[in-house]
This record gives sequence, structure tokens and C-alpha cells, in this order.
Amino acid sequence: MSGTTEPVIPPSFVYVPRAAGIAREAGARLREYFAQGVEAEYKGDVDLVTIADRTVEKLIRGRLGEAFPGHGIYGEEGTRERMEGEFRWYVDPLDGTTNFAHGFPQFCISMGLEHRPAGLKPEDDGTLLAAVIYDPLRDELFTAERGRGATLNGKPARVSRIAHLAESLLATGFPSHKRHSNPNIHFYQEFTLRSHGVRRAGSAALDLAYVACGRFDAFWEFNLNPWDTAAGILLVEEAGGRVTDFSGDRFRLDSREVLASNGLIHDELIGFFSDMFAGRNLSPIPTPREFAQARAAKNR
Ligand code: IPD
Ligand code: CA
Ligand code: CA
Repeated sequence: MSGTTEPVIPPSFVYVPRAAGIAREAGARLREYFAQGVEAEYKGDVDLVTIADRTVEKLIRGRLGEAFPGHGIYGEEGTRERMEGEFRWYVDPLDGTTNFAHGFPQFCISMGLEHRPAGLKPEDDGTLLAAVIYDPLRDELFTAERGRGATLNGKPARVSRIAHLAESLLATGFPSHKRHSNPNIHFYQEFTLRSHGVRRAGSAALDLAYVACGRFDAFWEFNLNPWDTAAGILLVEEAGGRVTDFSGDRFRLDSREVLASNGLIHDELIGFFSDMFAGRNLSPIPTPREFAQARAAKNR
């Protein structure tokens, strides 16, 4: 309609190819650093950072600025550019830094684009439009565009069809700071006993991408940041899965807690979270002391 000031949003398919090119370039840098080995510094507790994290964030910041000059960028290593803008990229230049620093080959680049229409309150979420997660060692590129599905290396990606927790393969992660105030080890124990297993591979963005392509049936973590989750959330949703907080309420980028699944086992997972928070239906295992006593008794 003439005379209106409706914002013109380019179709999201312009974003993924440009961001994918940037992620591939960044991935090539990560491969070089990984091959040569890098020193790690401590940001705090056991929160590591390397020259690769910083250099690659700088590279992505520059390339995104060239490709989309009006877009904001919110990066793990400190980038805060054009935060008042209508579009915002959440960038983790190296998700899996601890793996990277130890030579363990599981890490990626994660870039998620949010549309934040004028007038949105700073604490409110906009709409995730595009997602790119790139694993440079396997050369696996995961992408999603809102309303247009998810892909892995150009082919459609779909969540798994596993319908029961007891037959599922799950993933989780643990934070690198305030570790003593995080209860996740209890959830790790319970879900390990109730599923085919729980992997802790060390890259939340790849964990989410693996839910999107059916390698994992679900993933949860307690304390993530938007640069870890923005791209992976859109991937899971566009691949047919479901993402909420642990109570089953809408996931928000600052929720910190994330529960992502193939959708089919989601309600069962929420039921277990509710049981566990209430201390119900736990499956006790022997304490190390009880185990040692039983062991000693057997050897007597
Ligand atoms: C970490 C990884 C890890 C998760 C941590 C994150 P980083 O990100 O995603 O899997 O368990 O909570 O902080 O520090 O390697 O970018
Ligand atoms: Ca991360
Ligand atoms: Ca990181």
C-alpha cells in the first residue's frame, strides 16, 4: 500500500549463501590453527580462549560488515556492533574451544540471524531468519532459513523418528564457569539410565545441528548464551523438531536453558525434568563409598 512505512525485509535466502561463504572462510582459518596447535588462555575458572577464537571473530565481523553493512553483530569474543539495528547476527566464531585447545576434533562456527522490528523491547526476542553452522574438519555445512527448511551440505535435513526416550541417543553439555552451582550431572545420570546414552561432545551448536539432522534425538543444557543457540534453534525447528525451556515454555534467546528434540519425545523429556526438579522417580545408583564397601565385602 502506498504511503505505509512497512520495513522491507529481503527474503531470507539472500542471507544463508553469504553467511555460508563467510563461515567456510572462517573454517579454513580454524583448520590452519588447529593443525598448528594454539596456546589457551583462561577467561575465568576453566573458560578457555585462544588466538583462533579472537582472530576468527574479527574476520567474521569484517566480512559480515561488508556483506550486510546495516546489520548488528553480537559475538562471544566481545563484538557489539549496531545493536540497535533491525537485524542482528549472533556469532560464535569457535564453539568447542576446549576441544580445539586439546586437539579434540569437534568444533564449529555458528551464525544465527535475528530480525528485530522497530519498537521491539531490548529484552524481547525477534524472529530468527537464517542459520549457518559449519564444521570445518568434516566439511559439514548446516543451514536453515525460516519457512524454507534445514539442510546439511545442500540436502534436506530432518529430525529423527525415535518415539521413546528409552530408544533415544541424547546430548548435553556443562558450563565452564560456576561449575559447582550447576546441577546437570544429576540429569546426566538419570538420562543415561533411561536412554541409549548421553553424549557430551563439547560443542552445543553442533549438538543442536545433530538434533536437526537426526543424529541425536534430543539435547539439553542449563546455561547457554545466544551465540551458542541462535543458529541451532532455527535449524532444529526448520528440521521439524521442537525447542522449549525445561518447563515446556517458549524458548527465548536469553532463556539460557534449552531443550531441543525431534518433537516426538519432547513431552516425555519435560515430564522427566518436572520429576527431577521435584525429586520424584529418581533411579539411585550406589555411592562410591557404598560401592567400595560392597567390593571389600566380596573380597573378604
Ligand atoms: C561451549 C560449548 C560446550 C558447552 C558450553 C559452551 P565455547 O562453548 O558449546 O559444548 O557445554 O556451555 O560454553 O566456550 O566452546 O564457545
Ligand atoms: Ca559456545
Ligand atoms: Ca566460542
